[in-house]
Amino acid sequence: MNMKIAFVGKGGSGKTTLSSLFIRHLAATGSPVIAVDADINQHLGAALGLDEEQAAELPAMGGRLPLIKDYLRGTNPRIAGADSMIKTTPPGAGSRLLRVCEDNLVYETCARAVELDGGAVRLMVTGPFTEADLGVACYHSKTGAVELLLNHLVDGRDEYAVVDMTAGSDSFASGMFTRFDMTFLVAEPTRKGVSVYRQYKEYARDFGVALKVVGNKVQGQDDIDFLRDQVGDDLLVTVGHSDWVRSMEKGRPPRFALLEEGNHLALKTLQAAADATYESRDWERYTRQMVHFHLKNAQSWGNERTGVDLAAQVDPDFVLRECAAAATA
Ligand SMILES: Nc1ncnc2c1ncn2[C@@H]1O[C@H](COP(=O)(O)OP(=O)(O)OP(=O)(O)O)[C@@H](O)[C@H]1O
Ligand SMILES: [Mg+2]
Repeated sequence: MNMKIAFVGKGGSGKTTLSSLFIRHLAATGSPVIAVDADINQHLGAALGLDEEQAAELPAMGGRLPLIKDYLRGTNPRIAGADSMIKTTPPGAGSRLLRVCEDNLVYETCARAVELDGGAVRLMVTGPFTEADLGVACYHSKTGAVELLLNHLVDGRDEYAVVDMTAGSDSFASGMFTRFDMTFLVAEPTRKGVSVYRQYKEYARDFGVALKVVGNKVQGQDDIDFLRDQVGDDLLVTVGHSDWVRSMEKGRPPRFALLEEGNHLALKTLQAAADATYESRDWERYTRQMVHFHLKNAQSWGNERTGVDLAAQVDPDFVLRECAAAATA
């Protein structure tokens, strides 16, 4: 199955931990994976086993936006230059689309291979966030690079893009939260943990976003009951404390096969839930939504910022889909 998957949730809930376990699980099954760290605290590299030095050397997508934009716009005549390309600018005829399994300039400059048990994944990171990045509609937004990536990514069968991300206002204003086939909301069994779920659910409802809750740091039946009571059927699975994760954090990662049996099962459940959304995948709707958010961002700040009418960037005949990639290859 081909899938774009996000892990969101409150700070400290376990987004990075669960993203990294899920990525390890996919790699162990031999699936091609692009792993993206778009979290405020950039820890995905470390969670995938990189040491401090290696993590610090990862190229930041946020610092390479002009290159990413120039590559993606290709020969699209509706986009005059990287300067007038904002994070929501949709692809059109002439744009370059990305495949999960290919070599291209964007991966060459912004991705690094990380070896895991079972195979390597491509890791991309937005780079550290500053205060200014957390504003609503910023031209230089770090997550903007990820939104552009997702909007140009035609993932084929059995390929996954997994994004570790913050449930911030930025992702709601830009449309980022609608870019996934499946969103896993990681929640601890606390009132704060589920309050992020409620906010997300409200935004998600209007856009048909598939949202499932993954309970984390769950210690017993009372925790499970609490989550079930608060989020109902949206609760997909729960994960308890993991000694494997603790060892990994001490810098002594055991082989992935040694992860607790219950957690392996939980990861399988996540994959099955993500794969099940394949049937409802709708490239036309996906394209329509990116246009919707582009027009919204154009009007609220983009036109003024770039000095051009960004609505003219929309190619009315274009639909992002797998054969669109074949046509531009
Ligand atoms: N199931 C688990 N078992 C053991 N430790 C866990 C588990 N889940 C999370 N942790 C630990 O809790 C801490 C926070 O987890 P993590 O960094 O994954 O959260 P986060 O949501 O990504 O946080 P941030 O918002 O800071 O990015 C980490 O030290 C992590 O190792
Ligand atoms: Mg994190």
